Amino acid sequence: MDEIIRIENLVKIYSQGQESEVVALQGVDLTINKGDFVAIMGASGSGKSTFMNILGCLDTPTSGNYYFNKEDVTKMDDEQRSFLRSRSIGFVFQNFNLLRQSNSVENVMLPLLYWQKLKIKSLKDFKKQRKIFATKAEDALKKVGLYERRFHYPYQLSGGQQQRVAIARALINDPNVILADEPTGNLDSKTSIEIMQIFTKLNEEGVTVILVTHEHDIAEYAHSTVEFKDGKIVKS
Ligand SMILES: Nc1ncnc2c1ncn2[C@@H]1O[C@H](COP(=O)(O)OP(=O)(O)OP(=O)(O)O)[C@@H](O)[C@H]1O
Ligand SMILES: [Mg+2]
Repeated sequence: MDEIIRIENLVKIYSQGQESEVVALQGVDLTINKGDFVAIMGASGSGKSTFMNILGCLDTPTSGNYYFNKEDVTKMDDEQRSFLRSRSIGFVFQNFNLLRQSNSVENVMLPLLYWQKLKIKSLKDFKKQRKIFATKAEDALKKVGLYERRFHYPYQLSGGQQQRVAIARALINDPNVILADEPTGNLDSKTSIEIMQIFTKLNEEGVTVILVTHEHDIAEYAHSTVEFKDGKIVKS
C-alpha cells in the first residue's frame, strides 16, 4: 500500500507566555495509506483536534516530521502549505462552518473562488467563471444528495443537510484526503448514519478518510481506529 500521510515524533506545544505551556501532542507517530478509513478517538483534551489541524495544514507543529505524499510539509512555507491544502485536502468541522448569508451552491463553490481573484478582470469574466464553478458545485451537491436544496440558505436546512453542504464544499477540489473533526458531533443518530454513509461511499471511491469521533458506533464505519491519550497514540 502507498502511504499518503506519514507522521513522525510530532510535538505541539501551545505557549501563552513563558509561564503557561500546554503540551498538546508529545511524540505522535502514524502512517496512513492511500484509501484508508481511520477513526481517531480519545478523551476530551487528548490532542485530536490539534493533530487534525496539523494534518490539514491549518496549524504547524512545534517539532517532528509530516510527509504528505512523501513531500515534507514541515519544510513548506505558508503558501506551499495552503496550496497543498486547497489541492489535496478537504476539511469538515463539527459545526459545519457555512456562511450564513450564502446559499448551498455559493458555500460549496467558495474554495474555487479563492484562487481566481487575480484572473477575473471584468464582470463578463466573473459571470463566465461563476457559471463554471456553480456547475461544479451543483455536481458536488448531487454527490451528497442535496441538489434539490442548492438554493437554500443554511438556516433553511437541517443540521444533517448543512453538514452535507459542508462535505460537498470539502469535495469541490477533488481532494485525496478528507479530514473530519467530529462531523456527527452535533447530529442525531439517524442523521449521523446518513453522514457516515456518505463518507463510506467517498472512501469506496478512493478518498482517504480520517475522522475524529467520541462514539464507538461511528468509529465502526472506519477500517481502523487509533486512540489518543494525553497527546500520544496509545493504540493503533
Ligand atoms: N489554541 C490553543 N491554545 C492553547 N491551548 C490549546 C489550544 N488548542 C488546544 N489547546 C489545548 O491543547 C490540548 C489538546 O486540545 P485539543 O483541542 O487538540 O483536544 P481534543 O482531543 O480535540 O479535545 P475534544 O475532544 O474536547 O475536542 C488541550 O489541553 C487544549 O486545552
Ligand atoms: Mg477536538
